[in-house]
Amino acid sequence: FRRLGLRGMKQRLLVVANRLPVSANRRGEDQWSLEISAGGLVSALLGVKDVDAKWIGWAGVNVPDEVGQQALTNALAEKRCIPVFLDEEIVHQYYNGYCNNILWPLFHYLGLPQEDRLATTRNFESQFDAYKRANQMFADVVYQHYQEGDVIWCHDYHLMFLPRCLKEHDINMKVGWFLHTPFPSSEIYRTLPSRSELLRSVLCADLVGFHTYDYARHFVSACTRILGLEGTPEGVEDQGKLTRVAAFPIGIDSDRFKRALDIDAAKRHVNELKQRFAGRKVMLGVDRLDMIKGIPQKILAFEKFLEENPEWIDKVVLLQIAVPTRTDVPEYQKLTSQVHEIVGRINGRFGTLSAVPIHHLDRSLDFHALCALYAVTDVALVTSLRDGMNLVSYEYVACQGSKKGVLILSEVSDQL
Ligand code: F6P
Repeated sequence: FRRLGLRGMKQRLLVVANRLPVSANRRGEDQWSLEISAGGLVSALLGVKDVDAKWIGWAGVNVPDEVGQQALTNALAEKRCIPVFLDEEIVHQYYNGYCNNILWPLFHYLGLPQEDRLATTRNFESQFDAYKRANQMFADVVYQHYQEGDVIWCHDYHLMFLPRCLKEHDINMKVGWFLHTPFPSSEIYRTLPSRSELLRSVLCADLVGFHTYDYARHFVSACTRILGLEGTPEGVEDQGKLTRVAAFPIGIDSDRFKRALDIDAAKRHVNELKQRFAGRKVMLGVDRLDMIKGIPQKILAFEKFLEENPEWIDKVVLLQIAVPTRTDVPEYQKLTSQVHEIVGRINGRFGTLSAVPIHHLDRSLDFHALCALYAVTDVALVTSLRDGMNLVSYEYVACQGSKKGVLILSEVSDQL
């Protein structure tokens, strides 16, 4: 905050992220219900306190009619949120396509999809075009709410084009951009057809932040190798203009998790879980159902454990909370079927009349139920194949208190 020039509560902060911290569900023509969105960005930013902040983003639903848009805008205003309305076509091209099918796998070292390796494919071009249009739509909403002196904090790979839109509108806007995923080595990043345009846009920000020093270094070396710009200890310099680049590891508001366990609802959940799994050790996985989280690998490792240690059958249970995500993207649909198939096979193989070894849930839990689960669990498994700052490990430790369970943390997770 200090480096962005934010001096305290009096200064306003506009957070801009693809997703709002709440997701909306329509209950009637002008009725909406809101629930907290899943994911690390939301979990991390809920910990930002003592600033006058508003959040601009997509509410995760298509709202084609004006009545619905107005009602949702009003409902969100109570949460200090401002919606950006994206239609189905743009969501398909920008979010499912360019963000989730191109940038996400590339930034997690999974490479570009086969058909997009050539910049000339029409698919790629129309998705990149939609990406820029969507970023411009976020920028338009920022202009409507911006007041002189506001600090604008743009988030993630969805909005790499936004710093440029904002600075072209008003060069005096204070703009930060933070990436919640890895930034890959320049050898990987340079395979992206739109590499230069995106880097140049991000460099329009005053301050660019990453989870780790390595990602910041990868970004600076991409600017040097691809754009021929000079990297300095402070950041990247282009014709006398310096963009500061630095590492800001995110965390969680651990007190929020500890406090949740003092509430009666959470205590009830804890007691129920203890009774339900009495006499068995509980292992837990909490992930969005994403290929980078290593969920099939985790479940297969559990199968191997039972195979090699049959004395543990019936004495240990794996609870996997797999929050559905990006369900319109074919890769994610395939992953869901694959996980279901493996879980079914293992439960068929090692289940008994009284118990199954794996409880797999395709949904999120309410906050108190989740904290209770973290509190009673003996082992938490974070098995990411590549990840940004995985916050489940922090949440687990925050809820364990004096229990001191075991955290098994992937060595490619950023905490290590
Ligand atoms: O980690 C990057 C990120 O954008 C986080 O904000 C969040 O954990 C996740 O991806 C959310 O993904 P989506 O909004 O696509 O469900």
